[in-house]
Amino acid sequence: MKEINQFTLAEAVKESFRTKEGSRFKFLLEGFIDHLHDYTREVNMTHEEWMGILMFLYDCGQISTPERHEFILLSDVLGLSALVDMINTRGGSTEGSNLGPFYLDNAPTLDLGGDLAKGRDGATILVHGVVRDSLGNPLAGALIDTWQADGSGTYPIQEQASGQNKYDLRGLITTNDIGEYWYTTVLPKPYTVPYDGPVGHLLRAGNRHAWRAAHLHYIVRAKGYRAITTELFFENTEYIDNDAVFGVRKSLIAKLEPVKKTDTLPATEQKPDAKCRFDFVLAPEG
Ligand code: BEZ
Ligand code: FE
Repeated sequence: MKEINQFTLAEAVKESFRTKEGSRFKFLLEGFIDHLHDYTREVNMTHEEWMGILMFLYDCGQISTPERHEFILLSDVLGLSALVDMINTRGGSTEGSNLGPFYLDNAPTLDLGGDLAKGRDGATILVHGVVRDSLGNPLAGALIDTWQADGSGTYPIQEQASGQNKYDLRGLITTNDIGEYWYTTVLPKPYTVPYDGPVGHLLRAGNRHAWRAAHLHYIVRAKGYRAITTELFFENTEYIDNDAVFGVRKSLIAKLEPVKKTDTLPATEQKPDAKCRFDFVLAPEG
């Protein structure tokens, strides 16, 4: 029998799996085992500490439901979701950022110049720009799928019990012949990620807050291009430097400027109080 000690144990565990040589599964699994063993050895883990970690993971499972996925939240607050977004951002395209838990398929379509806010309280903002490819060519017919919180930091989907329609504050916008899009909406407020569960305990234990900087969510798609999932933030707003899920990137921050009487703006259903411009860039597929 081979000698197994704390330095050779990871090798023995890896060998116990009969994974296919050269497969991605083998690569992912073996890296995970190596790093987990290295970490456990380096921190000199005690039994109590390891059991504490396992109980924490158990609690994450216990509180999870199809609507509330505590492990995704854990990945978010540890910066892992952001890391995966960063790794998967293709050169030249708009940087990726959090999908978050509130995305819904089949959002209603919104015409160019339409209003998402439908009379909700808060400042009306014009969001406009162009969708381009990485060479700067405008992309006609690109689909912009957007969703957001309201002027008090709540997603309508969270308020279905009080009669709100879960499809409110969501829209599918198609760019025009020269790649342009524009619409009005309500300026969202910051909100907290759920902190009444184990991840909340973790945040409190680390003296961290649960606030996200105010943002608009987007998935942008165009035929022949890699879809991007991203978020748009507003310059000089609260939590922009310490978003709870590390979603903010410099390139995703837009200037929010008051609308002046002399501004020439695209035609909109609602008169905006402020405007912000953001261009999306898509990289080719493959
Ligand atoms: C959100 O942006 O909607 C979100 C992201 C991470 C955790 C909770 C909410
Ligand atoms: Fe969000």
